Amino acid sequence: MKKKKVNTNILNSPDRIKERKRLNKENVFVDFKLDESLKDMGKGKSYYIYTYGCQENESDSEKIRGLLESVGYTEKLVLEEADVLVLNTCAIRKNAEDKVFGELGRLKQLKRERPEIVTIVCGCMAQEQDAVNLITKRYQNVDIVLGTHNIHDILGLIKKCYDKKERLVDVLSYEGDIVENVPMVRQSKIKAWVPIMYGCDEFCTYCIVPYTRGKERSRLPENILKEVNELVEKGYKEITLLGQNVNAYGKDFTDRSYDFADLLTDLHNTKIERIRFTTSNPKDFDDKQVKAMALGGNIMPQLHLPVQSGSNEVLKRMNRRYTRETYLSLVKKIKEAIPNISLTTDIIVAFPGETEEQFEETLSLVKECDYEGAFTFIYSPREGTPAASYTEQVPEDAAHERLYKLNELINEGYKKGSMRFLNTIQKVLIEGESKNDPNMLMGYNENGKLINVKGDKSLIGKIVNVKVTEAKTWSLDGEYVE
Ligand code: 5AD
Ligand code: SF4
Repeated sequence: MKKKKVNTNILNSPDRIKERKRLNKENVFVDFKLDESLKDMGKGKSYYIYTYGCQENESDSEKIRGLLESVGYTEKLVLEEADVLVLNTCAIRKNAEDKVFGELGRLKQLKRERPEIVTIVCGCMAQEQDAVNLITKRYQNVDIVLGTHNIHDILGLIKKCYDKKERLVDVLSYEGDIVENVPMVRQSKIKAWVPIMYGCDEFCTYCIVPYTRGKERSRLPENILKEVNELVEKGYKEITLLGQNVNAYGKDFTDRSYDFADLLTDLHNTKIERIRFTTSNPKDFDDKQVKAMALGGNIMPQLHLPVQSGSNEVLKRMNRRYTRETYLSLVKKIKEAIPNISLTTDIIVAFPGETEEQFEETLSLVKECDYEGAFTFIYSPREGTPAASYTEQVPEDAAHERLYKLNELINEGYKKGSMRFLNTIQKVLIEGESKNDPNMLMGYNENGKLINVKGDKSLIGKIVNVKVTEAKTWSLDGEYVE
């Protein structure tokens, strides 16, 4: 078996100091064009893709699939059979990174058996100096490290790797242009992710995302509306607008005054049947946006509004730039405007210096908000972020105890959020067969609650009435009614 010479060619490597900087340059919009010389490079070859982390990554993976398939690669569902392996990674917490390193370790054997395989690491971990150093040193089985800002270069890099038989690192520290019309293979024919902006300028002190995803850049509304109208024509029923802080959408436009409320209103007037969005930042959620959301109709009564902590002191050290009081008043306004809303949140426990009393303030806020769900996390230090160097890290056992207590409360919210639908008729977008029982269908109601439905497979892809017959903590059961 021929062993590949491992020579690493560093085209660009990540630099945290540069990643933190924001260059004062205007957004440039370009259309993706496939380099003719790459046209058939994937013919007869296949790929396998792992997607870790958030919806942004899911959406990026759809572009990676699109790019690979546009030159002939086909997707394999068994990784051992694929010629190109892509790991689209997440860096948000240490355990997300550990998963990737674990997988890369397991893949070493496969590379020994099939040295011709090209393994690519992209996504947020690729933007991290330390992770990239570790990969180039210890994981010789990785052929390409590609950053979040240039995923559309993936084909050229694979070609270079084939031709020159060298490992490549190409990670830009600054975001580049907004590239439109990148080919995409969407994972669903019913629901679609629609990124409306990229990057994040918030710099919460715990978070790595502003470094890994660059400056906030909004797509032009005309391009978003065109994409959504095309989705409608293709039969899509639901879109989820994506951005790290969708409420800041449009703030970077210099040629127009157009914000998230304007976008929601324009999308409300399209024929798409369901609109959701994530993630919201309470600091930028203004009254105009509440009003736009309250238009209802195709704008779903569901809101994910991360609070992170119920303590003003902790919020301040997190650099969240809102207070417990302003958050609660926003929640009150939203609930008055959209009484049927299902509210969910993100919470971090054991942020450095968080006292027992400050944690209790989070519990009391959770009770006040009546959340119907939450993602809860123990604080995980991220190298290079301000909070990682804060002293007074909370001991591990106290952190676990707080998480446990918080989850008990959150689970009550999930249960209450289910019970309110018992014996009601819900509009459900049927997505497919239920995971646990192929004789049942599954879908989501307008509030985003999972429902398993007794009904015929011909209902898949339709929005139908379902009578809820049982309410469990995490899901509902129901029957199709005419
Ligand atoms: N540690 C723990 N949780 C984090 N999050 C972001 N950064 C960290 C971190 N360093 C959580 C926040 C955010 C969600 C996506 O992940 O709650 O809203
Ligand atoms: Fe998504 Fe954030 Fe994870 Fe990156 S670090 S994949 S943006 S959750």
